[in-house]
Amino acid sequence: MALVVAQSGCAADHSVETEAIGRLPGAPVPTLPQTDPDGTESSGTEPPTEPTEPTAPPSTTVPNVSTTDPPDVDSELGLGDEMFPELGAPAVDVVSYDVRLDVDADAGAFEGVVGVVADVELGVRFLALDAQQLDIASVDVGADAAEFELIGDELVIGLPEERDERVTASIAYAAAPNDVYSEAGLPAGWFQTSSGSYVLNEPDGARRWMPANDHPSDKATWRFEITVPGDETVSANGELTQRGSAGTPWIWEMDEPMSTYLVQLVIGDYELVDSEPIPSIDGGTIPMLNLAPTDLVDDLPPMLEETARQVAFFEERFGPYPLAGYGLAFVDSTPGLAMETQGRSMFDAGDFRREQLGYLQRLLLAHELAHQWFGNAVSPATWSDIWLNESFATYSQWLWLDEVGVDTLDRLAGDALSQRQNGVHSTGDPVVENLFGFESYDGGAVIVHALRLTIGEDAFFDLLRRWIFDNVGTSQATAEFIELAEEVAGVDLQTFFDEWLYATDLPDDYPA
Ligand code: ARG
Ligand code: ZN
Repeated sequence: MALVVAQSGCAADHSVETEAIGRLPGAPVPTLPQTDPDGTESSGTEPPTEPTEPTAPPSTTVPNVSTTDPPDVDSELGLGDEMFPELGAPAVDVVSYDVRLDVDADAGAFEGVVGVVADVELGVRFLALDAQQLDIASVDVGADAAEFELIGDELVIGLPEERDERVTASIAYAAAPNDVYSEAGLPAGWFQTSSGSYVLNEPDGARRWMPANDHPSDKATWRFEITVPGDETVSANGELTQRGSAGTPWIWEMDEPMSTYLVQLVIGDYELVDSEPIPSIDGGTIPMLNLAPTDLVDDLPPMLEETARQVAFFEERFGPYPLAGYGLAFVDSTPGLAMETQGRSMFDAGDFRREQLGYLQRLLLAHELAHQWFGNAVSPATWSDIWLNESFATYSQWLWLDEVGVDTLDRLAGDALSQRQNGVHSTGDPVVENLFGFESYDGGAVIVHALRLTIGEDAFFDLLRRWIFDNVGTSQATAEFIELAEEVAGVDLQTFFDEWLYATDLPDDYPA
């Protein structure tokens, strides 16, 4: 559902809708010398609960990267993600972004400066950032003007020979970005609406409006300083540290590690609405800050109550809410569209005007909230690990629909398993044009359910809690999940994952 859910409200129809809004005809997946990203973070910004960290491949295994001259092939500047080989950069670990934009929301054009603090392996003479159709005016590294070159969708910035590992770059640019179809078959990037603009970056849309290491494996902290001409409201991730007005920037800060695809940036005629903090299982409270068009503000209470109940329900199963704050952002976008933007999920305002708290609304609220654990606290190491996001968020949504009695887990799991027969793709090894298809969502939730039945109730929920607790603030691969599952369950699960996660055709029945 890429959360483009059927407007009729049938929760199981996501993949159908996803396909209905189109895919790129046969875009081939380019092949690369395998540089298999390990996908984990090593920046000092992480919480101290550092997980087992697969070591990064030595840069000598990455052709061209340690040399003085950048290669002239776009994809060779990337991490070698199987689906998006050109995204990210092997020797780069961004520590923080400072996004300063001057936006004319009506025109959908802006000028900006993005500050990037990154650790770049010593010996590497350039910093490659993803940048698509940005008009780069100048680049500074430290206090000095730097040379730069645009190679395909990469901005390649020259670095001085004598330097520290930590590099500070500042990129001044202009853009009139638009949403463009990602190879994943969905529009991603910057969206202009009648009332303003919003971004929806997943999977590769951040680079369409800002230079970035646009890969889920690289988390950083963020600061947004956004200036708008009039009385528009600006919402970004994290904490509002300065409320803007015409000519005075809105400043937002996200201090918890966040991947580029989780950025929220909404500009338009909206109200920011504080609401009652939600009590957390750990004894504290979760501050709540929401965004809604004026006509929806009075309708927020039931949605916020639903959210508070969902938090309690998920915390009991997945452990404490893993971020500093939460909120609901209702945006004039597209029916069925929702996104787990970190710390404040995004929904289509229209979906909640049609009906306040029906099946679809409860499904969406549960799904995006669950992503704060599965996807945001722990992010995928590569886009091939998408099931760690979508299958778990979908399973969580099933649990909630069952809990409130508008559906049953048995029916949802049973239906999805029968639909999953005679599949075309496996869930564990998705193809790019089907990244947000059925196999990643309900078709993958089937596997989560089968895992629960295989290892048993206690081990299953212990596993989910351990997964989050051990890995919060990092990006992890499926292999890590399997390893932890085997450790927690105390059994070899190779056959299980071969028969369910990596199979095209799934077993006819759930494990007894
Ligand atoms: N992660 C979102 C969800 O399932 C889907 C985003 C899909 N990407 C897009 N560009 N529409 O909640
Ligand atoms: Zn999702």
